[in-house]
Amino acid sequence: MKFFIDTASIDSIKEAKDFGILDGVTTNPSLMAKEGITGDENVKAHYAKICDIVDGDVSAEVISTDFEGIIKEGKALAQIAPNIVVKVPMIKDGVKAIRWFTDNGIRTNCTLVFSAGQAILAAKAGATYLSPFIGRVDDTNWDGISLIAEIAEVYAIQGYDTEILAASIRNSRHIVQSAKAGADIVTCPLSAIMGLLKHPLTDIGLAKFLADHKKANS
Ligand code: E4P
Repeated sequence: MKFFIDTASIDSIKEAKDFGILDGVTTNPSLMAKEGITGDENVKAHYAKICDIVDGDVSAEVISTDFEGIIKEGKALAQIAPNIVVKVPMIKDGVKAIRWFTDNGIRTNCTLVFSAGQAILAAKAGATYLSPFIGRVDDTNWDGISLIAEIAEVYAIQGYDTEILAASIRNSRHIVQSAKAGADIVTCPLSAIMGLLKHPLTDIGLAKFLADHKKANS
């Protein structure tokens, strides 16, 4: 399972890369706004900066919701760097645009996915990646991880190539559960990735090893 980081923060992207586990980046308009990146040219320049740092794929999301607008924006985003993937919402014009991008050699990430039915549509349109939002499903008192499992089962039965990119990850446990449920990729905040390191017995064990070594060598 690949690890993407879900942020537009250059510092976080650099930290994840430095840690040695970074396979790609996803962003969305909220994350860009959080970093204070506004205006078309600044947004494109920011994506270029991210693509310079990251070897893997970088999802850049369109703002348009009509077919022509999505195509125009997506084409411009795809020109920024070869590792840009155009992120398109799961709406009627979005699915139509994904089909167009697929037919024209532009890779896509279908976002805002909340059902297996939507996942089938995105795969039929040829989406490269599919982003089901685990945390937001959990927020509605449903089970985000079972959505990943259902989509993984359908994709395996049907032999779809679209990769399942588990998104809206809120904690480290979601990462483990996504791996078990069949996600190809998780995209998460750096804190959820770093949380995987934590276990009290590791800390206790290391303290004892170091103490025993010190005693034996003093
Ligand atoms: C997906 O690609 C989105 O950027 C993201 O994972 C949404 O997460 P959130 O629900 O924490 O905003």
